[in-house]
Amino acid sequence: MTANQNFETLQRRMAQQLAAAGLDTAALDARVLLEYASRFSATELAMRARDEAPSYIQAETARLVAVRCAGQPVAKIIGYKEFWGRRFKTGPTVLDPRPDSETLIEAALALLPGTEPRMLIDLGTGSGCLVVTLLAERPAMRGIGIDKSAAALSVARANAHRLGVRDRIALRRGDWLHGVAPQADMIISNPPYIESAAIAGLQKEVRLHDPRAALDGGADGLEAYRRLIGPAHAQLKKDGHLLLEIGATQAAAVTRLMQQAGFVGIACHQDLAGRDRLLLGQKKS
Ligand SMILES: C[S@@+](CC[C@H](N)C(=O)[O-])C[C@H]1O[C@@H](n2cnc3c(N)ncnc32)[C@H](O)[C@@H]1O
Repeated sequence: MTANQNFETLQRRMAQQLAAAGLDTAALDARVLLEYASRFSATELAMRARDEAPSYIQAETARLVAVRCAGQPVAKIIGYKEFWGRRFKTGPTVLDPRPDSETLIEAALALLPGTEPRMLIDLGTGSGCLVVTLLAERPAMRGIGIDKSAAALSVARANAHRLGVRDRIALRRGDWLHGVAPQADMIISNPPYIESAAIAGLQKEVRLHDPRAALDGGADGLEAYRRLIGPAHAQLKKDGHLLLEIGATQAAAVTRLMQQAGFVGIACHQDLAGRDRLLLGQKKS
């Protein structure tokens, strides 16, 4: 790294190094990592494009690029991820919020009237990105986020606090719905659904940096659905909805589990890439 690089040259070099490591998001990653290292916004960096980058920033970007080239996701490096227009804290104990999960948010908001006080339960809340987003969008709603990981719950708590919904959310350690009392108008979940044997073949960004408890869905990937769909039906109020994120090949199997539990009006929604991503069903009796 030369001592007299300006910010523009530094960003270009970072992008080249990231691209050479095979990262197809190299340009975006370089911009975000430079913003993080310099503490300048994108606008400030554009204004300072021709200013010399201080040597401490050059040294920090070299370190960040090396970490990224070794497979650490950008969100895990910088400690946050944007989701539905908000910034969520993330880290080694939680799954990074995924753009694919915005399919669930869109469907949930369409079912939730703006002003009525509804009760929402989020199973496997992780960073809290789903329940916190819905409570932030629907100020009359209350919610419960459940996770078996205490470390994940502390991240969810921080996000609930920072995003202004702390007084409307209860975050509890638990095993799906076991021991949960309140009846809900809506239950949502993005449970672990990867087949155990397939985890070794995932990209290293996911395999090495997302917690195994967030990924491993048992031998056929369906273990969590088997355990939570029946209790979810019992916990919902009449006319309540269950929304489940699913893997792209799981729609038929999870639909069967929902039908067996008594859900009706089951619909499958696709994500932006056109893959099956969400199942939605209603309790009528
Ligand atoms: C795929 S992550 C989803 C996290 C977050 N809801 C999201 O969409 O980004 C699944 C979460 O389920 C949690 N989990 C796994 N088994 C559980 C169980 N038996 N009871 C409660 N939570 C569980 C994991 O700790 C993890 O945080």
